[in-house]
Amino acid sequence: MDQERLDTILSRYEGDAADLIPVLQDIQDQYSYLPKDELKVVAQKLNVPLTRIFSVATFYKMFSLIPKGRHQIRVCLGTTCHLRGGPRLMESFSHRLGVEPGYTTKDMQFSLETVGCLGSCAQAPVAMIDDKYFGRLATDKVPKILKLYKN
Ligand code: FES
Repeated sequence: MDQERLDTILSRYEGDAADLIPVLQDIQDQYSYLPKDELKVVAQKLNVPLTRIFSVATFYKMFSLIPKGRHQIRVCLGTTCHLRGGPRLMESFSHRLGVEPGYTTKDMQFSLETVGCLGSCAQAPVAMIDDKYFGRLATDKVPKILKLYKN
């Protein structure tokens, strides 16, 4: 555990339970996920039960309990995308990357996840990599797109 880094974050706060979400946000920003050992220290310092911290961490989409990769891939499985090949698209990403949705590749390059609706149903099926949308995305384009983002 990087005690110094965590202490720097905690020193910005008063140390009461109301600081929980901002503290978690800072940890997420710094580590790109919420490491368990750090959360145990946060529980002690803010006097908040660890179980409550885990329920907050899993409730908000902005937090992750597993390390995130350099690039976030979100495959839409909202109703329209689901009907227009979203599941096949997800399978293609999953197969190419060798990870299930919710996980990160071993080389820490990509995290794969599903989302409800990306608000571009007319372009279904849709995926997003970081901030970029890929609409009407055919599975045969997946290898080429991944190549663009590798290293
Ligand atoms: S359902 Fe996929 S963008 Fe709306």
